[in-house]
Amino acid sequence: MKKNFTIISLIFLLILSLAFLSGCSSPKEEAVANNEKVDGNNENTANNKKGVVNLYTDRHYDTDEQLLKVFTEETGIKVNVVKGKSDELIERLAREGKDTEADLLITADAGRLHRAKVQELLQPVSSEILFNNVPENLRDRDNQWFGLTVRGRVLVYSKDRVNPSELSTYEDLTNSKWKGKILVRSSSNIYNQSLLASFIAIHGEEKAKEWAKGIVTNMAREPKGNDRAQATAVVAGEGDIAIMNTYYIGKMLNSSNPEEVKVAQNVGVFFPDQEGTGTHINVSGVGLTKYAKNKENAIKLMEFLSSEKAQKQFAEANFEYPANPSVEPSDLLKSWGEFKSQNINLSLLGEYNNKAVEIFNEVGWK
Ligand code: FE2
Repeated sequence: MKKNFTIISLIFLLILSLAFLSGCSSPKEEAVANNEKVDGNNENTANNKKGVVNLYTDRHYDTDEQLLKVFTEETGIKVNVVKGKSDELIERLAREGKDTEADLLITADAGRLHRAKVQELLQPVSSEILFNNVPENLRDRDNQWFGLTVRGRVLVYSKDRVNPSELSTYEDLTNSKWKGKILVRSSSNIYNQSLLASFIAIHGEEKAKEWAKGIVTNMAREPKGNDRAQATAVVAGEGDIAIMNTYYIGKMLNSSNPEEVKVAQNVGVFFPDQEGTGTHINVSGVGLTKYAKNKENAIKLMEFLSSEKAQKQFAEANFEYPANPSVEPSDLLKSWGEFKSQNINLSLLGEYNNKAVEIFNEVGWK
């Protein structure tokens, strides 16, 4: 009886092993299977020897789609895109864990990319092409994310009421001459957290706190609305100076809403701290997910997006500056003039994020 049982077990094990071996696929076939799961589009993929790469992105531009098409034409690698809001994509990656289909995450703000890193959702990439194309300060210290596009957090002022010669530094915004004139969004927003984190990195905690406190004192109103809403409030006369990201001015100038165009036309863009430590910059960037199943293809796509060929179009889609210094910005951005940017490693924006949030709470920046 016992002997029979052992033989049956052995046969059973043998069948299992055979089933397992025949079920095992090459990484490329596995990629194709992933592809089908991601977008339900399995046309041609069975014959696609080059496989796929699965991308989670917060971007939603037609030009991105064209670029990805060029990538596919050049490499034979199909790109499956899952679009979503940045924080939701990060949550999704965390929830999916090792089962995730995502190979790459593209999202805005170094502070947010850092969150993905500390949640162990990304992995380092060692690529000479990326090292050459993306300046060191625009990528994670441990190479877990790479900046692809750059935005400045600048002063946008009323052309009617402010002469740009009156503007100079971020610190000057805390001067009593601007009491009741400063417009800025809530501190729960990552852009403001990263801005304050940069001041902590450059000037230290005490100075950063003084600054935040001074801004609260000079606010034209309690923080509300997004960056665009601050420009709108400037033109409506609620305040004179808004702190906001450069690309929103580009978006508003090119908006289908005539009201937004009018707002953008009635404000000026000023790059603060040109004599000192430079204007605060941030990036949108890309990271290879920790559990990427199409790693080689994913790195190829990262390299492609950082290349001269792709950079201009990729940055221009959102009115941003290319991260690759050998690529020129668009004419609109050039019309605002060249500027000196903060020269710190953007990893610091993530590393000081908690401290920045603490300071905001302490000084009552809502
Ligand atoms: Fe934004």
